Amino acid sequence: MKSTLFALPVLMAFCAASVAQTVAASARKGDRELGQYLASECVSCHQASGRQSGGVPSITGWPDEQFVAVMLSYKNKVRDNQVMQTIAARLSDEEIAALAVYFAEQNPQK
Ligand code: HEC
Repeated sequence: MKSTLFALPVLMAFCAASVAQTVAASARKGDRELGQYLASECVSCHQASGRQSGGVPSITGWPDEQFVAVMLSYKNKVRDNQVMQTIAARLSDEEIAALAVYFAEQNPQK
């Protein structure tokens, strides 16, 4: 009995730690549903179908790390484009990761 009572806080601490780990892992990978929600703004210019249209490049089906890198280069104003710099500046790293996961799953139509 005594040992069970002792084990309880240890067990609770362990559970809390594993929940925290799961949350951290999903933040790193990007939340697909958040990405889908945020993407509605993007697809007013970028074709959801993955087709290129009028100077706006296709952004679907990219590896997510590459997508994140490009978005950060707009956000940090390393890559030049007024429109995309403004858009990227408003997005948090978590939102960019979420968009990356969502768009990576959308297949480009060639
Ligand atoms: C007002 C129109 C517009 C909106 C809205 C928009 N974009 Fe863009 N985006 C562009 C244009 C134009 C370019 C090409 C810029 C360039 O030449 O560097 C571009 C480029 C990009 C690129 C690089 C593509 C490549 O082939 O290098 C990515 C990634 C991107 N946009 C993601 C997004 C995301 C994510 C959103 C939504 C959060 C978004 N864009 C919203 C117009 C837009």
